[in-house]
Parts: sequence; C-alpha cells; structure tokens
Amino acid sequence: MKKISQFIIASALIIAPGAMSADLINVSTPATSLVLDATKGEPLKILHYGSKLNSKDMEAFKSASTFNHMAYPVYGIQPQGESALSVTHNDGNRSTDLEVVDVVTEEMNGATITSVLMHDKVYPFEVKLNYKVRPDYDVIETWADITNNEKGNVTLNRFMSGYLPLRYGNVWLSSLYGSWANEAELNQEPLTHGLKMIKNKDGVRNSHTAHAEVMFSLDGEPRENSGRVIGAALCYPGNYKLFIDTDDSNYHHFFAGINEENSEYLLKKGETFSTPELALTYSEEGLSGASRNFHKWGRDNRLHAGDKERKVLLNSWEGVYFDINEPVMAGMMEDIASMGGELFVMDDGWFGRKYPRNSDNSSLGDWMVDTNKLPNGINGLLETAKKNGISFGIWIEPEMANTVSELYEKHPEYIIKAPKRPVIEGRGGTQVVLDLSNPKVQDLVFEVVDTLMTKYPEIDYIKWDANAPIMEHGSQYLTSDNQSHLYIDYHKGLIKTLDRIREAHPDVTIQACASGGGRANWGILPWFDEFWTSDNNDALQRIYMQWGTSYFFPAIAMASHISASPNHQTFRRIPTKFRADVAMSGRLGLEMQPKDMNEDDKAICMQAIEDYKKIRPIVQFGDLYRLQSPFDKKGVASLMYVTAEKDDAVFFWWKTETFMNQQLPRIPMAGLDPDKVYKVNEINRIDKEPLTFEGKEFTGKFLMSNGLEMPLTYNVDYNKNTDFSSRVLHLTEVK
Ligand code: DGJ
Repeated sequence: MKKISQFIIASALIIAPGAMSADLINVSTPATSLVLDATKGEPLKILHYGSKLNSKDMEAFKSASTFNHMAYPVYGIQPQGESALSVTHNDGNRSTDLEVVDVVTEEMNGATITSVLMHDKVYPFEVKLNYKVRPDYDVIETWADITNNEKGNVTLNRFMSGYLPLRYGNVWLSSLYGSWANEAELNQEPLTHGLKMIKNKDGVRNSHTAHAEVMFSLDGEPRENSGRVIGAALCYPGNYKLFIDTDDSNYHHFFAGINEENSEYLLKKGETFSTPELALTYSEEGLSGASRNFHKWGRDNRLHAGDKERKVLLNSWEGVYFDINEPVMAGMMEDIASMGGELFVMDDGWFGRKYPRNSDNSSLGDWMVDTNKLPNGINGLLETAKKNGISFGIWIEPEMANTVSELYEKHPEYIIKAPKRPVIEGRGGTQVVLDLSNPKVQDLVFEVVDTLMTKYPEIDYIKWDANAPIMEHGSQYLTSDNQSHLYIDYHKGLIKTLDRIREAHPDVTIQACASGGGRANWGILPWFDEFWTSDNNDALQRIYMQWGTSYFFPAIAMASHISASPNHQTFRRIPTKFRADVAMSGRLGLEMQPKDMNEDDKAICMQAIEDYKKIRPIVQFGDLYRLQSPFDKKGVASLMYVTAEKDDAVFFWWKTETFMNQQLPRIPMAGLDPDKVYKVNEINRIDKEPLTFEGKEFTGKFLMSNGLEMPLTYNVDYNKNTDFSSRVLHLTEVK
C-alpha cells in the first residue's frame, strides 16, 4: 500500500501551487470528476461533480461560480439547513465545526483512495472523508470515518455516508418503490420544493419497499439513452435514509446514509465509526448509461464472483412447496438435467427432527435433515445430482428461528426481543429473528453454513433466505445503554459472519433471497452471487420489476425463473414462450414441477435453455441498453444487451398489452457499432414461417436509426394464438 500525505498531493494533482489560494482536489475517473476545495483550516467544500475536468478546466474555479457547499455539512454552526453529521460531544455540546487538516492518497488493491482528514476546531473529534476510485470505472465511492478522541463517549445523532448538492433546475428523480411480490416499481418525478425522503426501517431486509439507490436526470424528464444523469447507490443492507431537501437556495441537497432513527450511536473514547459507502456515478448517456456504469463497477468489484457465468437451475419451491421427499427431488433432478439445466436447488422443507418443517410454522434453527422425507440424507441427493450430471443446491434461513424449534428451546436468549415484553412472532405465527449483535449467534450462523459445506463439500449453491423484519426493538445481548445500536450491530454482525463464511467457502454460489427481492443492495452483494428478484414470477409483472431492478443491478445477479401457468401469485395465464422470453433477460431458471408441463411447453423450455447458453455471456456480462420502458405504457417494452466489443447482441421485445389494431412504436436499437454489419436470428421461434429479416444482415446504423418492425402476433395455428407476444433476436457481427 502506497501512502502519500499532505497538501503537496492536493495541489500537485490539480493546479500549479500558487496558481490560486484554494487547494483543489480533482477526484477523477475515466469520464468524471469530483472537485473538492481542501484548503487547510477551512471546512472541506465541494465544487463540482460531473464530466471530467482537466487542469485548464480547473482554473475556471478561480472566477466561475459553481457550487461551494460543505462537502459534509455538519450540525451546529448555522444549524438551519440539513446536515450529514450531527454529534453530541462528551460535554453535551451539540455543535461541531470541522476544518481540513490533511489530505492523503493511498493505493489499495488497484484502487486509489483520497482521504481528507478534518477535525473539530475545539474538540479532539475527527472526520475522515474518503473517495475511492478504480481505473476503468466511472464510479466514486465515498464514506466517512468518524473518530472520537474526547474524554468519554460522544453520541452520533446523524452520520450520513455522503452529501451532494445538485444545482436547482429541471432535475428529475428516478427511484424504486414497491412491496412484497411487487418489488422495484419505478417512480419518476421532478424535484420540487420541500423534502423528499426514501427510507427503510425493516431492520433485516431493505429493498422490498423503497430502494437505497436513486438517479437524478439533470436535463429535465428522464431519458434512457441521452442526457446527464447522476446515480447514487448506498451500499448498506440495513435501515437507510436517502433524502433531498430543496430549500430556498439554488440547490437540491441530497443526503444518503444509515437511517439514524432510533439508532443513535454511542461512540466510545478512541473508537472510530465508519459509515457504509455511497457509490456515485455520472453519465451523459442517460439513465441506461448510469446503469451501465453501476453494472460494470458492481460486477467487477462488488458482486461475489461477478466474472463467473451463472448456471441454469430448477428451484423446487413453486413446484412442490414443503412437500419434499427423495423420489420427488430425484424426479425433478432428472427432469431438469434432461432439459439441459445445470443445477437443482432444494428449497424449504427438508429439515427438522423433533419438529419437522412441514409448513412455515416451525423448525427454523434445526438444520438437521428430516430423514423421514430424505432417508438417504443430503448425500443421497448429491449422488442423484451427480448421476444426472448436474449440481445441487440447498435452501437455508440461518438468521431466523421459530419459537417451535429445538434451537429456541435451548437458547431463547438468542432471539431479538424487547426487555420485559412478550415475544412477537412473525411468519407462520412462530418466526423470530436471531440477534446477530450477539457474537454467539454470529458463531451459530457461521456454523450452519460451515457444517453444511464441510459435511457436504459438493453443495454448489445455497439459497439464503430471510423472511422477517425486526419486529420489536430490543436486544437481549446489548447493554441497556447500547439498545439503540441494535439495527446497526445486527448488520455489523451479519457482515462479520458473511466474511467468515466467504473466507472458509469462497466457491459456493449463494443467493440473497429475502421473502423475494428484499435484499437487492450493493451492501450485501460482496458476499452473494445473486439475489432473488421477487416471489412474483408472473412474466408480465416481472417485465416491470426487472426493468426497475436493472437501474442499479446487472442481469447476472437478477434471478429470473420460468414458472407455471396459471401463475401462483397473479393467477394470470401466460404462454410458455413469453415466460421464457422474459426469464431469459436475467439469470435464467425454472420454478415449477416439470412433470406438470405438457410436451410442447417442455420443448419450448428446452429450446430456451439451449439458446440461453448461447446468449448467456451477452446477458450476464454485456452492456444493457434499455430502449422502451414498460412504465411509459406504450404497449411494448424492449431492451438489449451488447458485448463490450459490440460484436454480439441480444434484443428483447415484449408486448405489454393487446388491443385490436393497436399501434405500437417501432423500437430503434442502441449500443451497436454503426459501421458493423450484424446478422439477425430470432431465438425461441414458434412461428411457422420465419420473420422477414431472419438470417438477414443489417448495419448497426440501420438498426439504431430505423430498427426492425415486429409483427403484433405470431404466425401459428389459429388455436395457438394468445394475447401475448414477444421476440428475442440474436445479432452477430458479420466479419
Ligand atoms: C421465501 C422465498 O422468497 C421463496 O422463494 C421460498 O424460498 C420461501 N421463502 C420458502 O419458505
């Protein structure tokens, strides 16, 4: 690790010393700059975040007015506005006044971290603001390290990860909202005066409802492929708060960090509190451009094993629910193997001795095989998987217990519970959350995974579920003066445990499931390979949910399964082709009992699996261009993935509603090389006759300026017509 200290770096990096009095720092990535004024003895200021500036541009700050706000506004002096940090000092003083003391840059694992050290003008209280960049990625990660060197405890009342002023104007916010089975719905609105808050207080899961990520379109109404966009993703799996205060100044003030509500943090003498990272990106290629920045950065730097292709799997949940037994599991394994799948995942219902897990009302915590259901245990299943040439995965919910379990009988003190109050129970009437602030519980959760993986090293995949929020504020482990630490210490404990698990078992694929899409967040993905997008597998609603999810997360992480018809959540009947065409735009899997499929449907799924393997590298590692939003209600949604070399692409087109003689827009493509020639082949074709452009060649320029006309329906036998229609086109460069 190389460390360079002091102001030499600040001045040298940017502007010839003496050229101006301010010490400007240009934290830059290939296409972006964040400019700070780190003049010693002054509060740190932020002057610019946006396109990349060179040294000539930097001189402009001498005369051009720009924003000139504290980079990390603190509470106390001029306390009228919102702040990123609010502290009660050891002597009760609630004001903080920071000045810059030093600037340090260091190289760490290929990244450069610029840290600005500030201290209070009168208290031995320090804040180090960090900005981390990696070559090749247009993302800046920022966070604060807050250190108490006072005589005793100080209380952190608010401790945000970062702040950004946005010049007042026609700025639009894109954010995600939703709920269980309706995750990642898109909300787009202009920023108006007042406070807009996006928050989570679940305690355990944090992306069912709102999401900890937003985008700002700076040039008016959001556009997918043009316009300036700032994206922000708070990398934190717990309670968060993102808010924008549009006050009487010329700025929208954006703050993001841990939700401090009921979580004030008592910082001991000598202790440092590090906030989670806030990842910022800037693009001049619209919302899709900002998404591509997040996807590339996330895949390569945050997502666990982001460079490894994901397998096509069958998950047992919607096929059999809790009715797990050996012959049924074996049948499912045979079926998925014969269809070309690569992995079978046994979901909930396989465990519990004294209390067998036959429904959701017992057994969490008792991770012993139910030998009545599985007489040959996990080894028997692993053998069957091997015989069929596929891998095997298993479901667990290690952060939880049921009050009807052997674990709870032995250790009632392990659960989260408010002192003096009765236990509040969740799912199934008996589910409770284990208290991960307790190191003994951390050990227990580690051992659940470690024991499984040590006993059965051939397990290839774990579906890690979490089906309850924190239902009462109280820890049986934390002391009475530390009860406010519960929400934060839960996640510190979780991450510590995940660190241990990953150190011991780096290769197992782990899915972050949390009652569906409750854990789609960059704060959890360093330990997980993917997330379960939603418990709702209805392909039509998935178009919307996956569209929203794709704002911040790449397709490789977005588990997307073909499920039965009628759908188990919406009861909608959707033909298999359409269900496959939607699932193939994410990490493809199946979620049904293959035995219930007729031969035609099975054939479509088999074809989809075969074709998916061909387009998998493009979907899982390519650049996403969103073309037509389902939220625009134009009757069609469309997106495409293009390889970095622009030599291979896949185009998805889904009709979202059907009316006679409706008029749909033609969708010009994006992201191709205008000068390259591409051959177009439809995949998952069910028509009797190929499309007119099947096998034909087109320039990238034509495809991007004109696009291809999609027929409204299929050319199939009369009785095979349905009200759904979709197309998937594979484009390969003709060399
Ligand atoms: C909730 C998950 O989201 C489902 O996929 C399934 O695993 C169930 N839990 C099992 O209880």
